Amino acid sequence: MTNNIRSHLIRLNMLCNEKCSFCNVTIDTEPNYKEKSILEILLDVNKIIIIEWWVENVKITLSGWEPTLRKDLDKIVLWIKKLWVKYIELQTNASLLNEKLASKLIDSWVSKFFISFHSHKKEIFEDYVWLKWIFDTVIKNIKNLWNYKNIEVILNPVISKKNYKDLKEYFDFIKQNFPFIKYISLSFIQPHGEAKKNIDLMLDYEIINKELTWILDYAYSLWFVVNNPYCWLPVCIMWRDKYSKNCIEIIEWKSIINSWKRREDNNKIYIEECNKCIYKWLCSWIWKEYVELYWSKWINCIKNY
Ligand SMILES: C[S@@+](CC[C@H](N)C(=O)[O-])C[C@H]1O[C@@H](n2cnc3c(N)ncnc32)[C@H](O)[C@@H]1O
Ligand code: SF4
Repeated sequence: MTNNIRSHLIRLNMLCNEKCSFCNVTIDTEPNYKEKSILEILLDVNKIIIIEWWVENVKITLSGWEPTLRKDLDKIVLWIKKLWVKYIELQTNASLLNEKLASKLIDSWVSKFFISFHSHKKEIFEDYVWLKWIFDTVIKNIKNLWNYKNIEVILNPVISKKNYKDLKEYFDFIKQNFPFIKYISLSFIQPHGEAKKNIDLMLDYEIINKELTWILDYAYSLWFVVNNPYCWLPVCIMWRDKYSKNCIEIIEWKSIINSWKRREDNNKIYIEECNKCIYKWLCSWIWKEYVELYWSKWINCIKNY
């Protein structure tokens, strides 16, 4: 299981058939993006392999906007596999992942599908991704993946005010309709791109604090494994919780070097209260946009422990 190993992300295009109100990738977030040829992509992968020479299995994630819109996707996968990359993940909205394409990609060596599936409610789903008549196709395409052995399928709902209330039912739906799926990744909305424009979608930490523990208990009672349940949340939200071990950031906090690297990359800040917190230098802090929206409300510094 490779869910909690950080992967190298390669964006294959800047085209998408959906128009998600929360999408974190836009022309504004990637102003210098230029689509690369297969050869250029392979050179990038090769660089990663050289830099990561000490890592046993390099993991590559192919994403985009929507990578299934690239006609040469199966060839890209096949050539990356020829560079001895064992784990190739595809991030997709699954709307175009029909039987034919799925079969081609699995033959070419996609080992994991990381699928955006945000709600089991047709209206909420279609409103969220701004594409009508797509829900049933996505369901059919995900169900089809049950026919293949030796692949992992992970669902990634982006959690916001639109869908958090239905999370319990969401897990019931997955159990019933996609019983082969074990891993769900919870992505609390990151305030970038479209999400920054639609900032009101962002949940406050009080709601997350109140709801998340019992939701995770419920999901685990159904035998799901929930990856990254605290992704991008400050330490004081997930502090001391039994599920934190499945969070990539907690795993990486074990490496101080990585935690410094990450902090430079993101637009997170600490607030005055954080100065009192004993975890100030371990935490990856708070989204700037969260502070603008909710001030320091519900940020519970861990000063008393
Ligand atoms: C930008 S998408 C590209 C791949 C593909 N189009 C898809 O939607 O799966 C990559 C991943 O980021 C997630 N995502 C998009 N916007 C996000 C946001 N604001 N916060 C957190 N995750 C987000 C998507 O659900 C998807 O799993
Ligand atoms: S999240 Fe994925 S499907 Fe939605 S607009 Fe962005 S790239 Fe497209």
